Amino acid sequence: MNKISIIGAGMTGSTTAHWLAERELADIVLMDVVEGMPQGKSLDLLEAMPIIGKDVEIVGTNDYAATKDSDIVIITAGVARKPGMSRDDLLTINAGIVGTAATETLKYSPDAIFVVLTNPLDTMAYLTLKKTGLPRERVVGQAGILDSARMRAFVAMETGVSVENIDCYVLGGHGDEMVPLTRHSNIAGIPLKEYLPADKLEAIVNRTRKGGGEIVNLLKTGSAFYAPSAACAQMAEAILKNKNLIVPCAAHMEGEYGLNDMFFGVPVMLGNNGVERIIEYKLDDEEKAMFDKSAAAVKETHEALKKLVTL
Ligand SMILES: NC(=O)c1ccc[n+]([C@@H]2O[C@H](COP(=O)([O-])OP(=O)(O)OC[C@H]3O[C@@H](n4cnc5c(N)ncnc54)[C@H](O)[C@@H]3O)[C@@H](O)[C@H]2O)c1
Repeated sequence: MNKISIIGAGMTGSTTAHWLAERELADIVLMDVVEGMPQGKSLDLLEAMPIIGKDVEIVGTNDYAATKDSDIVIITAGVARKPGMSRDDLLTINAGIVGTAATETLKYSPDAIFVVLTNPLDTMAYLTLKKTGLPRERVVGQAGILDSARMRAFVAMETGVSVENIDCYVLGGHGDEMVPLTRHSNIAGIPLKEYLPADKLEAIVNRTRKGGGEIVNLLKTGSAFYAPSAACAQMAEAILKNKNLIVPCAAHMEGEYGLNDMFFGVPVMLGNNGVERIIEYKLDDEEKAMFDKSAAAVKETHEALKKLVTL
């Protein structure tokens, strides 16, 4: 059995464990700093296995040693921004948490592939790469699968077509400047622009961009967790099963799309080695302008990180 360790057993971490256990994909370790909580959640989830008929070991811990020999480490540890907290405050807090999570887990699992979820996503993935010193294949951030799934869900709601027929690609940074590529998105091969009137498509694009905020406003406390964690589980499955699945993920740019030394949401082929390939779309001028704007926003957060933390 493969082994996946999830650092941070909060809403996204524990729900990732749930999706993974349902797939009987790997034994799971849930690690958190809160005493008893990861142990309690793991035991509860373990007790569900006889009901759903899955043979999976699930262990909760406060000790990084339990993550030893993981094939995949998923980092969800961190805090969400609270009222009164600046972006830099969030960056400082989560950089400390993610930096420790990355270096501690690497000690016990030198061959692991890292999937990062903690926000600000692109910059926390960048921090993980720099702190671990791993090749870029082995650090990948989750954002685009979620943003694309939101767009797919909204298209399905508008058209009544099965979500399985709907392909959407949302690239760029995981923030307000994300880039929903309507030209590359389609329903059973029919471009979205042909299937939907312009005003409906524009509304879907706008709702996608604000998708995270919509959930935060409804929940009042906390942020989305079902869809983000389903995305992490899909990434882990693609890696462990060597699927060569092409999905939008945050990857380290080394010249692709004219970008260098930064994480950015692009189509990534996920397989046994992690990032097997980065796919470069041919962008038109309008898409290129959106990419550049989004890249500038991500770069700004990377620069802020470099001022706060020694990499
Ligand atoms: N990239 C995305 O698409 C996406 C989507 C949803 C959430 N997120 C981000 O993921 C992070 C987690 O979100 P959540 O909803 O699970 O939050 P949460 O508060 O429910 O869980 C976070 C967990 O991290 C733990 N933690 C804090 N410091 C730790 C440390 N040093 N070591 C181990 N665990 C530690 C906390 O105890 C808590 O249980 C946030 O930064 C959030 O913004 C990103």
